[in-house]
Amino acid sequence: MSPTAVLGIETSCDETAAAIVVDGKLVADRTTRQILHEQYGGVVPELASRSHQQLLGPAVEGVLSDAGLTVSELAAVAATSGPGLAGALLVGVSFAKGLSLSANLPLLGINHLEAHLWSAELALGELPLPFLALIVSGGHTLLVEVKGFGAYRRLGSTRDDAAGELFDKVGRMMGIAFPAGAVLDREALEFDGEPIWFPRARLRDNPLDFSFSGLKTAVLYYLRERYPRLGTAYEIPAEVRPAISAGVMTAVGEMLVARATIALEDGNYEALVVTGGVASSSFLRNGFQTMSNRMGIPLFIPPPGFCTDNGAMVAYAGYRRLSLNDRSPLTLAVDPAARL
Ligand code: KG4
Ligand code: ZN
Repeated sequence: MSPTAVLGIETSCDETAAAIVVDGKLVADRTTRQILHEQYGGVVPELASRSHQQLLGPAVEGVLSDAGLTVSELAAVAATSGPGLAGALLVGVSFAKGLSLSANLPLLGINHLEAHLWSAELALGELPLPFLALIVSGGHTLLVEVKGFGAYRRLGSTRDDAAGELFDKVGRMMGIAFPAGAVLDREALEFDGEPIWFPRARLRDNPLDFSFSGLKTAVLYYLRERYPRLGTAYEIPAEVRPAISAGVMTAVGEMLVARATIALEDGNYEALVVTGGVASSSFLRNGFQTMSNRMGIPLFIPPPGFCTDNGAMVAYAGYRRLSLNDRSPLTLAVDPAARL
């Protein structure tokens, strides 16, 4: 049998990415983070779409050339169809439709959250089932029970901001360029003093839901009471900053670990999988590792390049969907609010 090569396209937010997976293994991967958003303190949807239009063609050509394949040798083309920014998603989906039509390839619309989830399997090998998954990124924070590919039960999610969104908003108050997660992470990791204490939210009706807006407000009040503001950022003395970063990371880490612990104690899981951009945090990875050791539950967190948005995860989810004989129609629509 000839090898099954799937092209994956990811344009849901500010990464323009393409990748090729052959028989479930990654052979080519090109991801470009659109740095032009840094100066605006967040992703500007219009600019994101325009950049995707410029960057996607070269990315696809690049991975085909890296893999030594032509379009006609592909078995399918997969593209993220949601959730994400409508205009940004449209660029990837339209491109995939064009390829599908011109080269007569099966088309697969991929749920971005499903792609994040299974990036752990692409990076680390087969995952033991059932497992508990925590998807934590700039747009999402959710806990999911996974019984198999396509068999998901949502256990809890954020009521307001996503964890990464909180990092980015706090970063803006601290004068850190967007996205701020990696800087907060590094400062927290290097800090060995006493972190500033910020409150942790707990929700009474569903203990597995998350809320990060209270923490955001607490940081705002803390800064507002102490430091002058210049533009959107407070002027924090350099020697105080790491204690704030460590305080924010510690609070978020404790909230994430607490939810995962409750879900693991309530269910019967073979492993804990943590994915999404925020899972690239070394500080949080350490926290999950400690928890995993304490509970005796195997932990799977993909390497950072597979945690943040990438094309490989879309190609892999496409490969898995193709194996199940799944196909999307050429009328495939984008779904900015798609759920898992
Ligand atoms: O998964 P992702 O690339 O995009 C979404 O689907 O949202 O996640 C991006 C988020 C951003 O909020 C960014 O600040 C955060 O992931 N992030 C991190 C780190 N690297 C990226 N947060 C903490 N530590 C990091 N090292
Ligand atoms: Zn994502």
